[in-house]
Amino acid sequence: MTPPTQHGPVVARTPEELRAALADADGVGLVPTMGSLHSGHRSLMRLARGRAGTVVVSVFVNPLQFGPDEDFEHYPRDLGADTRVCAEEGVDVVFAPETQTMYPAPQMVTVDAGTMGERLEGASRPGHFTGVLTVVAKLFHLVRPDFAVFGEKDAQQIALVRRMVTDLNLPVEIVGAPLSRDPDGLASSSRNAYLSEQERTSALALSRALTAGREAAPGGAEDVRAASRKVLDEAAAADPPVRLDYLALVDPATFGEASADHRGEAVLAVAARVGGTRLIDNTAVPL
Ligand code: PAF
Repeated sequence: MTPPTQHGPVVARTPEELRAALADADGVGLVPTMGSLHSGHRSLMRLARGRAGTVVVSVFVNPLQFGPDEDFEHYPRDLGADTRVCAEEGVDVVFAPETQTMYPAPQMVTVDAGTMGERLEGASRPGHFTGVLTVVAKLFHLVRPDFAVFGEKDAQQIALVRRMVTDLNLPVEIVGAPLSRDPDGLASSSRNAYLSEQERTSALALSRALTAGREAAPGGAEDVRAASRKVLDEAAAADPPVRLDYLALVDPATFGEASADHRGEAVLAVAARVGGTRLIDNTAVPL
């Protein structure tokens, strides 16, 4: 275990080191990450810092949530840089286990994400959410946080984590960190850096489509879908085009399509490719 420096967090590499680091901890908040920490992660850490006596950030690239065609091996890893970000944000403990430590043997028992994990993001990434829920459950058992912070940009992920906590009676509060937007409306993401100026202009159709959908909410679910679809149809003809992966208005409890007479909150979610970059965005729609 790397002890805390004057300004830095304790870095725990094993469950034993983590337990020692948290021996006297009270009011623990966990921010689960896969590292490569950026401004979005910083806002999760600040939210945790504002509520917790002890803030733990886990840094673990979870092989279980990568598909065979996804590049687990080349996912960026820089624990030194991540620890510096954590130090700047006043994090107390960084939990950074090796793959072997988290998965000493092939994982036989997993947390099945069910049908909710097969839709939208799960349809393009089979097994992804089972991998996410399994590692999040393991982290909850290892860290035993009072609360854990997840970004609302990954709307389906946080909805599934909430569902797991309810369905498995896990004693942890799930705190959603609001999605942040760049000044032009694009949902903040490290992937935005890959967009050329023209691609970025096209990509703004995603947030415009969500705004159009939300504005159509008084007319009901079908009007929401039609209004946002219209913006995306136009964007499909733009140069460069927005290539839609999905646009869905879903019940936040199940991620099933919101029915025409759905009442209460729904989530309008979109995923699309612009150039080589895949972008996601979502907004809550009161119906
Ligand atoms: O959102 C992420 O970075 C990951 O899915 C998570 C929650 C850290 C699990 O590996």
